[in-house]
Amino acid sequence: MTARLAGKIAVVTGAANGIGQACAALFRAEGAVVVPIDLAGTETACDLLNEAAVTAQFAAIGGQHGRIDVLVNAAAFAVFEWIESLSYEDWRRTLQGELDIVFLPTRAAWPWLKAGGKASVVNFASANARHALEGSPALAHCAGKGGVLAMTRQLAMEGAPHGIRANTIAPGFVRTAATARHLDADPAFEARVLRKSMLKTLGEPDDIAWCAVWLASDEARYVTGADFAVDGGATAW
Ligand SMILES: NC(=O)c1ccc[n+]([C@@H]2O[C@H](COP(=O)([O-])OP(=O)(O)OC[C@H]3O[C@@H](n4cnc5c(N)ncnc54)[C@H](O)[C@@H]3O)[C@@H](O)[C@H]2O)c1
Repeated sequence: MTARLAGKIAVVTGAANGIGQACAALFRAEGAVVVPIDLAGTETACDLLNEAAVTAQFAAIGGQHGRIDVLVNAAAFAVFEWIESLSYEDWRRTLQGELDIVFLPTRAAWPWLKAGGKASVVNFASANARHALEGSPALAHCAGKGGVLAMTRQLAMEGAPHGIRANTIAPGFVRTAATARHLDADPAFEARVLRKSMLKTLGEPDDIAWCAVWLASDEARYVTGADFAVDGGATAW
């Protein structure tokens, strides 16, 4: 059987941890040439909130490979606080860590995504883009993820004439180093998450990465401007 991403040049941000790390590993296993980016812990280190660094990084990647076929924007940063204790500074940092961190790499990658004539951008919304989860102080995160959902539809429209597809995956609660902090901080939290879920188990990074593999592949050539809930049924009831 042919690898599903054979020969594709795939840039994966947030590749040092969690879902991004799983995407990078599965993409490699499916034959892609993967350029993993993170603050540290990957071959390519870049602060994706530093405009000049992002511009330079993508110019280097595009210059080396001549095109980018897949951009997976998995890097993100969010502060979780209830409204009364959420500082304006943390609100702004979260919107940067959810929105600017998608905008800057996507804009820098755009000429290289156009260059191949057939490309896929995979962004991450969240169940939180549509639902509030009881017990989760996710105000700024919800605002950011709603923004990612909306901006990805616009990217799909702007990208279509150039052969660029853009979609979001909306994960439910996925066990990663970052989410382990929430689970550890409140022992009742996992039970609350599972009460909302049809499948009585938390997600694993690979559960999400398989959806990204499909969206990045030619199997999804007719799919753009769409959002995929991979959440154990949490947002379906
Ligand atoms: N894990 C979940 O339950 C869950 C649920 C819904 C949505 N999501 C979304 O899925 C995506 C991946 O989530 P995750 O849980 O794997 O995240 P994570 O926190 O485990 O990893 C995010 C990575 O982004 C990197 N990063 C943060 N700021 C950066 C910057 N300025 N420059 C470069 N790299 C930076 C971090 O170093 C980290 O390695 C995110 O968009 C997240 O919001 C996750």
